[in-house]
Amino acid sequence: MSIHISAKKGEIAKVVLQPGDPLRAKYIAENFLENPRLVSQTRHILYYTGIYKGKEITVGASGMGFPSIGIYSFELYTEYVVDTIIRIGTCGAYTTDLKVFDILNVENAASESTYAKYAWEIEEELLPHQGSIFDVINETAKELSLVTNSTNIHSSDIFYRKNPAIPEIATKYNCPAVEMEAFGLFANAKYLGKNAATILTVSDIIPSGENISADQRETALKPMIELALEAAWK
Ligand code: ADE
Repeated sequence: MSIHISAKKGEIAKVVLQPGDPLRAKYIAENFLENPRLVSQTRHILYYTGIYKGKEITVGASGMGFPSIGIYSFELYTEYVVDTIIRIGTCGAYTTDLKVFDILNVENAASESTYAKYAWEIEEELLPHQGSIFDVINETAKELSLVTNSTNIHSSDIFYRKNPAIPEIATKYNCPAVEMEAFGLFANAKYLGKNAATILTVSDIIPSGENISADQRETALKPMIELALEAAWK
């Protein structure tokens, strides 16, 4: 057990798929894993461990934002045997060049957040994915004939803001979309020498207001879930 995860040692696999939403973790476990076991439900942040094509995999939520993914990923890496976390989430596009349902494999996360600086004395505002799992995801996407974009992403502390203009940091680092967790995950993995990747499905186009409806989400996220599972399996 760790402070925020009640699974026993040995109940969490080496590879963890991490959506933001606990109910998405439940959906993935129940629909894609054999013999899924609920191993932690502290604060209703659900973690399941099951079998995918013979390999043990855990899927569990990160919650929203750096404080939340910072806690869960740190405890997974340090209190269990986890060596790889693949975040699977959604993002908002800053540009109509991206379309809803597009899949992004995050190369670098840019952030104005002080999370990495004050947690680990990491001063960079642009942090890369960690280890080789990013490349495995790209290779796997090719094998599945799935189009993915390797791209930089803006990782933000802010969902609602006064000024709708694209934030300066997103322009500076050529980030076509925004989410709220990758930078925190990459910072923890960098500090701890672990593997981390982030795969995102575009759920909303900020300039046009277009978005994936609630009932489209389940099917919309399926290709990303399958890509993450296949990469995790390797
Ligand atoms: N995740 C999905 N859409 C988002 C947005 N518009 N801003 C931040 N995170 C998001």
